Amino acid sequence: MRVGFLQFYPRLFEEQKNLHRIDKLLTDVNADLIVLPELATSGYLFANKDEMKYLSASAKQSRIADFFRNIAKRENIAIVVGILEQDKEIYYNSSILVYPDGKIELYRKTHLFYKEKLLFAPGNTGFNVFNYQEVKLGLMICFDWIFPESARILALKGADVICHSANLVMPYCQKAMYARAIENNVFIITANRIGSDKNRSSELYFTGASQIMSPKGEILASASIDKEEIRIVDIDPQEARNKNINEYNHLFKDRRTDLYSELSTYRFSQKNE
Ligand code: ACM
Repeated sequence: MRVGFLQFYPRLFEEQKNLHRIDKLLTDVNADLIVLPELATSGYLFANKDEMKYLSASAKQSRIADFFRNIAKRENIAIVVGILEQDKEIYYNSSILVYPDGKIELYRKTHLFYKEKLLFAPGNTGFNVFNYQEVKLGLMICFDWIFPESARILALKGADVICHSANLVMPYCQKAMYARAIENNVFIITANRIGSDKNRSSELYFTGASQIMSPKGEILASASIDKEEIRIVDIDPQEARNKNINEYNHLFKDRRTDLYSELSTYRFSQKNE
């Protein structure tokens, strides 16, 4: 299976320009699956919800959905891309999986980062995996990486390849993915963006260095920190299926779920600080 990422520079508020760039970069792409960054059509750094209105779109019935349907069909590829989703009056930081036949699956970012909390509703889809060419794809978005539960749930549900759309601003994720890949024995494609967003007196710089990691923690492709790049590698998704570590240990069967219940019931309180 040929999988890859498109690392590029989405321009804040400039949807037409972004779509045009994506269209161009994905022409004659020759892959099965391409992952794009978070909020790839709109940019990231909104000051308020009014600014988001005209850039937002329904995940499945919209100009944005149709734009990606057309490319997925034309190139015969699956695309995972971060979008600014509007559902009724609510905004979600979402990613969609667009199949070559036009079907679309949706994930809404679970763990909102920094001032995203002022603008977006936290995702309510949970972590789900979707079939594509007999391979199971799991979706997560950017800051979800710092919660190991995100990748773990996807892997427990059978994900072979985690499609991780990102707008990273901190420098830790790429190294952390080494642990996420090994502890779950999965492939992880982190598609980050480059450049900066400036809005009024705020500015954020994004860190590039998109990567594809194997279940053994090998970096199969790694992008620069500041250039637009499309990278594609051949993977064997079967490598993600064998969760045995040795003849005695299994990544999932050895989990002591009888001792883990606090993971879902424990609530952090100020007393602990
Ligand atoms: C992030 O979640 N965009 C850092």
